[in-house]
Amino acid sequence: MKPFALLAFAGLGSLVQSTPVAPAQPRSLPRARPHLHTRQTNNSSGPACAQVSQAMYGDGTTVANYVVPAGIAWDCINSVPLNATSAKLLLTSIKPYMEWQSTLTVLKDPPAEYVEKVQPAVDIMGGLDKLASDIDAGKVANEYAFGWALYTLIQSAHDGHFSYVPDSVGGIFTWGRDVPLVSVSEDGEQLPSVFAFEDVLGLQYKNISYTPSAVAKIDNVDATEFLETLSQFGGLQDRDALYNNLFYEIAQVGLGEAGSGTGMFTGGGRGRFVYPGANTTFTFANGTTRTIQNFARVRYNFRGLNTGEDVAKQWFTYGMAASAEVASDTVSTATSKSSGPGYPEPVSIGPLNLINGYYVEGNDYKDVAVLSVPNFVGNSYAQEAFQKTSQEFIPKALVDGKTKLIIDLQANGGGTILQGYDLFKQLFPDLDPYGASRYRANEAIDLIGQSYSQRASLAPRGSNSSLASAQSSYFDYHTDMTVEGKPFTSWAEKYGPQEVNGDNYTTLERWNLSDIYTNISSGGIDVTGYGPLANITGPPKFKPENIVIVTDGYCASTCTIFTEFLTKQAGVKTIAMGGRSNKNAIQAVGGVKGVNNYAFGYIQSAAQTAIRWNPAVNESVLASYKDDLPLYRASNGASPGVNVRDGLPQNDTSGIALQFVYEEADCRLYYTPEMTVDINSLWKAAADAQWGSSGKCVGGNNSQKRSNHLVTTKLKPRRVQVSSAVAMEKLQSFEKSFQLKTECHMTGDGFMHP
Ligand SMILES: *[C@@H]1O[C@H](CO)[C@@H](O)[C@H](O)[C@H]1NC(C)=O
Ligand SMILES: *[C@@H]1O[C@H](CO)[C@@H](O)[C@H](O)[C@H]1NC(C)=O
Ligand SMILES: *[C@@H]1O[C@H](CO)[C@@H](O)[C@H](O)[C@H]1NC(C)=O
Ligand SMILES: *[C@@H]1O[C@H](CO)[C@@H](O)[C@H](O)[C@H]1NC(C)=O
Ligand SMILES: *[C@@H]1O[C@H](CO)[C@@H](O)[C@H](O)[C@H]1NC(C)=O
Ligand SMILES: *[C@@H]1O[C@H](CO)[C@@H](O)[C@H](O)[C@H]1NC(C)=O
Ligand SMILES: *[C@@H]1O[C@H](CO)[C@@H](O)[C@H](O)[C@H]1NC(C)=O
Ligand SMILES: *[C@@H]1O[C@H](CO)[C@@H](O)[C@H](O)[C@H]1NC(C)=O
Ligand SMILES: *[C@@H]1O[C@H](CO)[C@@H](O)[C@H](O)[C@H]1NC(C)=O
Ligand SMILES: *[C@@H]1O[C@H](CO)[C@@H](O)[C@H](O)[C@H]1NC(C)=O
Ligand SMILES: *[C@@H]1O[C@H](CO)[C@@H](O)[C@H](O)[C@H]1NC(C)=O
Ligand SMILES: *[C@@H]1O[C@H](CO)[C@@H](O)[C@H](O)[C@H]1NC(C)=O
Repeated sequence: MKPFALLAFAGLGSLVQSTPVAPAQPRSLPRARPHLHTRQTNNSSGPACAQVSQAMYGDGTTVANYVVPAGIAWDCINSVPLNATSAKLLLTSIKPYMEWQSTLTVLKDPPAEYVEKVQPAVDIMGGLDKLASDIDAGKVANEYAFGWALYTLIQSAHDGHFSYVPDSVGGIFTWGRDVPLVSVSEDGEQLPSVFAFEDVLGLQYKNISYTPSAVAKIDNVDATEFLETLSQFGGLQDRDALYNNLFYEIAQVGLGEAGSGTGMFTGGGRGRFVYPGANTTFTFANGTTRTIQNFARVRYNFRGLNTGEDVAKQWFTYGMAASAEVASDTVSTATSKSSGPGYPEPVSIGPLNLINGYYVEGNDYKDVAVLSVPNFVGNSYAQEAFQKTSQEFIPKALVDGKTKLIIDLQANGGGTILQGYDLFKQLFPDLDPYGASRYRANEAIDLIGQSYSQRASLAPRGSNSSLASAQSSYFDYHTDMTVEGKPFTSWAEKYGPQEVNGDNYTTLERWNLSDIYTNISSGGIDVTGYGPLANITGPPKFKPENIVIVTDGYCASTCTIFTEFLTKQAGVKTIAMGGRSNKNAIQAVGGVKGVNNYAFGYIQSAAQTAIRWNPAVNESVLASYKDDLPLYRASNGASPGVNVRDGLPQNDTSGIALQFVYEEADCRLYYTPEMTVDINSLWKAAADAQWGSSGKCVGGNNSQKRSNHLVTTKLKPRRVQVSSAVAMEKLQSFEKSFQLKTECHMTGDGFMHP
């Protein structure tokens, strides 16, 4: 019952993100980037798709090789001809979903500070029209060129909940490089530079004989410029967070396939959709160069396929449901140990590495506990175990004499919204989480709300279980409450619309956490402080100044809700790790601050349900959600979705959604080589920065304490602190993680897909 409840009522869609404008090309791209006008297929040894087939089955093996050279896969996918009819129909049929994107209007002309410091404007609807006219004008060379233009239009909104990954972009091939990178500062003070992660591993766990040297150029472009450009294809909005996401990071690796793998540069996360060229050439600061061949993962069986037409016929579903089965190349990458590489054994172990409690190791840190929360859980069967972990760990840490708490939110793309509320209430039982949100008013929402509210009103709330799916939905006006904590009195009151800064929105609402249906939206847990757990009250578990939040900027969705409560309502400080190689202050929260996503499939089913309950609206705008094409033409495993709810801060008078608000972290720390292989060294640095006597922040309040900012160009040998057997074991656990890819099956009503 629980999994169903979650899917059927809460509108949990999965989240995805993206954007296109007239293909917004970042300046100075890495070479061989996809353009609307694409290259010819090579024909030297037969059609490119035959070469892919040959690479998979060529030696007569019965076990197909699902990893092939990137260059031939690129030529193959570009030999699939454009089906202009289907492309035009797709552009038309996704438009109704775009109306639900809460920031649709603001994206065209965002607040000045956002444009200056975060991302440029984008006109989504205009971009869709432009793409349609490019097709008519014969400017779209092939199916992939169409898919990429559509993908990047949505992706350029830099909203992690807003994405559409067409079949041609993510459904046939995904891309990668097998050299993970890190950006580190030699001593935490020098400006960071980029290194091959294997060099850092070598320093730490092998007796390497050379001195690792920084990556100066990639494909003959200055390395930082190349990487900043590539990072813009990521799912976050903040540029420092996007930069961090390129690199190997143990917090992401610990999430297994649900994280961004070994970084966007290697094809993890959104990097899997960006063609890396056939090869990559590194030029190191010491003058050495190295060229590697890039790879493609093939998602389907290519046996017997020769041409782009063959691939289209077999694997593109221009109008019908796909019958395809996905390639079974799954290397099991989920970490079998309780923690991923670089982590100690937890004191309290949560499910699937989504939450764990630790104590910082080291004599000077005996009073510091760590709650590591890289996700707010989207797996319905893990919800209770997730909540239980913090319920056990917080009191245990207090009993064990821990007076300080680091909340490590690195890699946290969100999860279940009310788990974020719950964890906040576990820490601050005396505070009432604010959390106002609004939808972008559109006719479909109004009609769905009328239909649901009418049905929900047939009987008192909770009195008739056959009304539960209507009554537990946002679309019943009895659900949620006003910002003053009062009930809504009608759907018309809840819908509004309210005109704010040039667009119409629904009336601001807050979750009614005492509602009898709360445990449905929460995936089955009772929220601390409300309903059956209303008896949990009292003072904060840790003083706000004895808590610090650590992020890598990859904090999105439910993570941003949780962080907003802790920082604004409780006054907890933040530390942001990494960022671009400069001395500036950076943001702690770099991912989507919208507070709810809907999958296209959820919107479609809400529209159909509204028609079923009120057949009078059969001919209305709701009919435009009947077409399945947008679902069929999205690539498997990357559910298309929109951000439906803006988050608004408490006491706001501007009407500007949090998504467009720029907020610096209280402290910034660079990653050091140690921190990329040992999380304990990161936690110690965070504890020192927050509670130590020697302020060590790069930016923010303590920045004056930093004097010299030389650039790191080489790494000094690290002392081997462990036995060689232990070093070997650690090395192997890291090297095994190099196989990791992103293939996320988590869902959640507040989760950003990697
Ligand atoms: C490409 O190769 C195929 C098979 O070898 C051949 O039939 C076709 O004519 C070639 N096309 C061109 C343009 O050379
Ligand atoms: C195909 O040919 C183009 C131009 O001749 C070349 O740049 C590209 O590397 C070739 N691709 C492969 C996979 O060999
Ligand atoms: C192109 O797509 C349309 C559906 O829009 C479909 O009927 C047609 O068969 C497709 N053409 C090819 C060549 O697959
Ligand atoms: C230069 O640096 C690279 C990257 O660290 C390393 O692989 C190579 O061995 C170094 N070359 C020399 C000559 O030291
Ligand atoms: C890519 O690198 C491989 C060696 O790793 C080399 O054989 C091949 O010619 C290169 N291809 C291109 C297009 O540079
Ligand atoms: C519950 O509601 C359904 C739908 O309106 C109705 O058919 C049914 O009779 C109701 N049950 C009770 C016990 O009132
Ligand atoms: C907002 O809605 C009202 C009432 O439906 C309408 O008159 C007004 O033009 C709308 N404003 C915008 C900016 O769409
Ligand atoms: C919240 O839900 C509870 C339980 O259903 C209800 O008693 C209360 O009136 C609701 N609060 C508001 C403000 O609607
Ligand atoms: C929610 O709580 C109610 C009672 O408080 C209970 O009857 C119901 O089974 C719970 N639902 C879920 C999904 O846990
Ligand atoms: C609160 O109530 C729940 C059950 O409703 C019970 O399990 C728990 O022990 C109570 N907690 C406190 C602090 O009284
Ligand atoms: C909002 O204003 C109230 C009343 O002045 C104040 O108590 C509260 O702390 C403010 N909240 C925030 C987040 O600033
Ligand atoms: C590195 O060298 C030292 C001294 O030669 C040796 O004791 C240690 O076992 C070596 N470590 C590894 C991981 O090989």
